[in-house]
Amino acid sequence: MVTWVLNYLLVAFLFAISYNIDAASAGITRHYQFDIQLKNITRLCKTKTIVTVNGKFPGPRVTAREGDNLQIKVVNHVSNNISIHWHGIRQLRSGWADGPSYVTQCPIRMGQSYVYNFTVTGQRGTLWWHAHIQWMRATVYGPLIILPKLHQPYPFPKPYKQVPILFGEWFNADPQAVVQQALQTGAGPNASDAHTFNGLPGPLYNCSTKDTYKLMVKPGKTYLLRLINAALNDELFFTIANHTLTVVEADACYVKPFQTNIVLLGPGQTTNVLLKTKPIYPNATFYMLARPYFTGQGTIDNTTVAGILQYQHHTKSSKNLSIIKPSLPPINSTSYAANFTKMFRSLASSTFPANVPKVVDKQYFFAIGLGTNPCPKNQTCQGPTNTTKFAASINNVSFILPNKTSLLQSYFVGKSKNVFMTDFPTAPIIPFNYTGTPPNNTMVSRGTKVVVLKYKTTVELVLQGTSILGIEAHPIHLHGFNFYVVGQGFGNFNPARDPKHYNLVDPVERNTINIPSGGWVAIRFLADNPGVWLMHCHIEIHLSWGLTMAWVVLDGDLPNQKLLPPPSDFPKC
Ligand code: C2O
Repeated sequence: MVTWVLNYLLVAFLFAISYNIDAASAGITRHYQFDIQLKNITRLCKTKTIVTVNGKFPGPRVTAREGDNLQIKVVNHVSNNISIHWHGIRQLRSGWADGPSYVTQCPIRMGQSYVYNFTVTGQRGTLWWHAHIQWMRATVYGPLIILPKLHQPYPFPKPYKQVPILFGEWFNADPQAVVQQALQTGAGPNASDAHTFNGLPGPLYNCSTKDTYKLMVKPGKTYLLRLINAALNDELFFTIANHTLTVVEADACYVKPFQTNIVLLGPGQTTNVLLKTKPIYPNATFYMLARPYFTGQGTIDNTTVAGILQYQHHTKSSKNLSIIKPSLPPINSTSYAANFTKMFRSLASSTFPANVPKVVDKQYFFAIGLGTNPCPKNQTCQGPTNTTKFAASINNVSFILPNKTSLLQSYFVGKSKNVFMTDFPTAPIIPFNYTGTPPNNTMVSRGTKVVVLKYKTTVELVLQGTSILGIEAHPIHLHGFNFYVVGQGFGNFNPARDPKHYNLVDPVERNTINIPSGGWVAIRFLADNPGVWLMHCHIEIHLSWGLTMAWVVLDGDLPNQKLLPPPSDFPKC
């Protein structure tokens, strides 16, 4: 009898403990409202109307903790169609909330609203959100910050303060008009007029001294800078004069800390760095600068955004302080880019292991780069020749988005036959010397093709850059998954030699990786998230030119391995 009572108490006690642990980790629901609205804004001496979220530029900060549920109601008050992508959120079984227009949903039209409803599972760090239709993300973007669960420490010294810094690109013209004109004429797009930190171009541009981003700091403290490259088309080097940065996280995945003076972010990438301020008040202020890394043939905005790092002092004024200026690598410094990229390694600790797939079920080889489309008859084009338009492709397929439905909807209701085909080439149909002399025929084919994967397939994918119309880095972003970067190199990938050097121990985990300019990168991921997932170059003009494809990941057998049904307010097509 006594034993029975004791047993009963023990069971009740254990139940109470496990229940509390669950309750502590379950997370809460956080509500946001995003009103898509117009706003007049002045930059570089010119006032223009831009599309914003809640009249803010950059848009509002969304904060959650790992395990929280987010419900973000997007109400569209403008005539442009809109959809919002939560860049880097895995969206486990909630693909309906991923956001790319015509991929997982039709856009939200004027007067309509849609609640993006998703739970942040197994992720913490800096991500961001942005519009995912045409070039709307030029002004519709903001930070998405996932704090660790309550009482869970960072795997680095606790920062005194944390500061998001979003890099952007400012156009005096309407960005929608810029891309429309480019697609019409076949030319490369007009370059932006400025780069920005948190929407501010800074003192190196006309009329912009008052529009300068200032980071006020105290001596002897550690700041966590959450760097986000939200620029449309430009990879950016970033540096702060006389200060060393410690990189601790990339794309919301912890990395082994390393020190650097200059970081490089492709569009779409995020990087957390620790900034340790000087122990005593320095008699100077410090520029922070960003400007592009670019090796392509087109013209780009090569201007420099400057912000100011300033130490607070209770008596001294900052007026007469000298400004210390840093230097940055040359614009085409591929060697700097390569050495920097090599520094990233997963933390690979017991709490944050690197679960890199060791056995590969499916291998794919994607050749990625620019190409051409023919110029329509009766038109003179401004592509590489006057009879061609610029295009871009993966395995020579330039992707066409559906325009009457989304890939995910048509798949879910079993009516995809007239929407997409499932024969995306697993390797180039006509292999060539990818980084050597380009072939004479640069024409791409056009289509809406996907790769279908069974649930829990392990995938190895080699992304090979091509030299067609110039070598260039391509920041490739995968929706719905993180992947491990197991190898990279210059020239053509060599299947006999290169896999021997793969890092399967502590490769960096990310959602966006640069294909090196004139090289290749190999990634692995586990297809454990049913749905339709876009993969594309995050350079917006390359995406507009068709540098994208989609993976369809089938449901698993168990009930919790299936895509959930769409929410009731899902936007109608
Ligand atoms: Cu951040 Cu499909 O994009």
